[in-house]
Amino acid sequence: MTTSSPWWRAEVFYQIYPASFKDSNNDGIGDLQGIIAALPKLKALGITTIWLSPIYRSPMVDNGYDISDYFAIEPRFGTMADFDELMRRCQELNLKVIMDLVVNHTSDQHTWFQQALHDPKSPYRQYYIFRSGDHGLPPNNWRSNFGQGPSWSPVPNEPNMFYHHVFSPQQPDLNWENPQLRQEIYRMINWWLKKGISGFRIDAITFIKKDQDFANITPDGADGLGKVKRKAENRPGIAKFLHELNAATFKPANAVTIGEASGVQYDQLDDFIGPNGYFSMIFDFHYADIDIKSGSEWYRRTNWTVSDLREAIDRSQLAIQQSGWGANFLENHDQPRSVSKYITAPAYQNQIGAKALALLYFCLRGCPFIYQGQELGMVNAERQAIDDFNDLSSHQNYHRALEEGYSKTEALAFVNARSRDNARTPYPWDTTVNHGFNLGHKPWLAPAQQREGVDLASELQDPHSVWHFYQQLIQLRQHSPWQQDLIDGDFKPIEVSSPSVIAYARGQHLKVLINLSEHAASMALPTGRVILNTHTTFSNHQLAPYQGVIIEEANHD
Ligand code: GLC
Ligand code: CA
Repeated sequence: MTTSSPWWRAEVFYQIYPASFKDSNNDGIGDLQGIIAALPKLKALGITTIWLSPIYRSPMVDNGYDISDYFAIEPRFGTMADFDELMRRCQELNLKVIMDLVVNHTSDQHTWFQQALHDPKSPYRQYYIFRSGDHGLPPNNWRSNFGQGPSWSPVPNEPNMFYHHVFSPQQPDLNWENPQLRQEIYRMINWWLKKGISGFRIDAITFIKKDQDFANITPDGADGLGKVKRKAENRPGIAKFLHELNAATFKPANAVTIGEASGVQYDQLDDFIGPNGYFSMIFDFHYADIDIKSGSEWYRRTNWTVSDLREAIDRSQLAIQQSGWGANFLENHDQPRSVSKYITAPAYQNQIGAKALALLYFCLRGCPFIYQGQELGMVNAERQAIDDFNDLSSHQNYHRALEEGYSKTEALAFVNARSRDNARTPYPWDTTVNHGFNLGHKPWLAPAQQREGVDLASELQDPHSVWHFYQQLIQLRQHSPWQQDLIDGDFKPIEVSSPSVIAYARGQHLKVLINLSEHAASMALPTGRVILNTHTTFSNHQLAPYQGVIIEEANHD
C-alpha cells in the first residue's frame, strides 16, 4: 500500500446481523454477548472490521432499522456495558467496529415523533414531514419502498393530516430541510465516534432529500401509485445535506463511511466517492439486482446471462476506479443468498458454486464485504406459505404481485427467490440443536435447511470448505506477496473467447478467471503460476464447470 492511501482501503469487512448471529442467553434472539464470544472465530477467518447491523433501541418492526433511541442499546441485544465490552474485546484482537447509521427515518416510537404527534405546535413537528391531504386522501400518489401502499399515513385524530415514510408507516422520515434536526443528528454521530467506533455503514442515505413540490407522478402500477424513489432518491439538492454531514462528522474523525446510496449514476461518483466525496465508498447495486428489473419490485424478474453480469461488473469497476474506491459484496441482510441467486445450475448450488463466487468478487478492486453465513456457502430458505415470512417487505411484495395479477403460487415463488428473510436465518455454528445458535429456545426466525456440512464447526474441520477458501482469499489480500496487486492494483477486464467466463487483471501480476457455467469452458489460459484454485485440478486449455483461478503471469519483473 502506498503511504498516501487512506487507511480503510486495506480493510476486510464482516457484516453481523445481530438477531441471527449467536444467542447467548437462549431467548431466541442473537445478542451482543453472543458476538463477543464469537470474536476469536472471526479473527481466525482474517477479517479486520465488523459492521454491526442496528443494535439501537427499537421496536424491531424492521429489525432495528426503526430506531426509537439513538443513544441506547436495544435490550433484546444487551446493554451499553455489553457494547463497551465488545469494543474492548475488539481492540484487544485488533478488530475495528462500524455501526449502522439510520438517519433517513426513525421509529414511530421515537420520542421526537411521539411529541410531534401529540402536539402539532411542538418543535418536533418540524423534525418530520407532515402535509395536509386531499379531502382525506394522501397528499400525492407516491408508493412506499417496501412494495405496497402509499408513502403517506394518516395522523391519528387529525383529519386530513398525513406524515411521510419512504419505508413502512412505522418508519417516519426525518425532515432534513430543518437545520435544527440536522445538527441534532450530527451530535449523535459524533457521540458514537467518540466511543471508539471506526465509522458507519449509512442506511438509505440517498432518500434524505425529497422533491419539495410533493407533486403527483405518472402511475407505474395497477394501484395508480408511482415509486417514491422517483421523487425521493438522490434528488437535486441532496449535495448540500451530504456535504454538510461529512464536514460536521466523518471527515474530522477520519472515519470510514460506506453509503447505502442507491440511485447514484456512474457520472455522479466523483461527488460521492471522489477525493472530496461525501463517503469513503458506496455500495453499487447494479449487479446485486441483476435478477430483477427494479430493486423494490420482486415480481419483475429478468433472464440475465453471464455476459450481462460480466458487463455490469466491468462497468461498475471501471467507473468506481475512475473516481475512488468501491465496496464489493455478494450478500447482505436485504439480499438473497448469493449461491441461490447467481449460481443458476442447481447441481452447483453448493461449495463449488460458493467458491467460484467468492473468487469472482473478492479479488475485485475495493473493500470486500462478507455477510454472516456467506463464508459458509449458505443457500436460501424455501418457505411454503406467506405466513412463514417475518420480513415486512416480503408481505408487501407478495400482495403487490397478487394485485398485479400473478397467482398465489407465482407470488410465493417471487418472494422465496427474493425475500430478505433468506439471509436472516440463524447462523449455523454446529450440528447440535438449532445448529448451535442457542441451547434450544425457538429462534425468532426458523433456521434454513442447508446441505450437510454447511456449519462452522464442520467447515473448520474440512480443509476444502468454503470457510477455508475465504480464509485463503483474505490471507492473499492482506498478507502475501500479492497484497499490493490485490489491494491497490488497477482493475482491467480481460476479453476471453468463452461467454461463460468472467476474467480480469489486478495490478501488475494477477489474472483472475471464473467459469460461471455447468459446462467446461475451453480456452487458452494465461501461462504462469496458479496462486489460488477453487478446484484441485488444473488444465491450461480449459476451465472446469464453476472453476475459478488466480494466475500470476509468467515473464514479468
Ligand atoms: C436499508 C436497509 C434495510 C431497511 C431499509 C430501511 O435498505 O438495508 O434493511 O429495511 O434501509 O431502513
Ligand atoms: Ca439472546
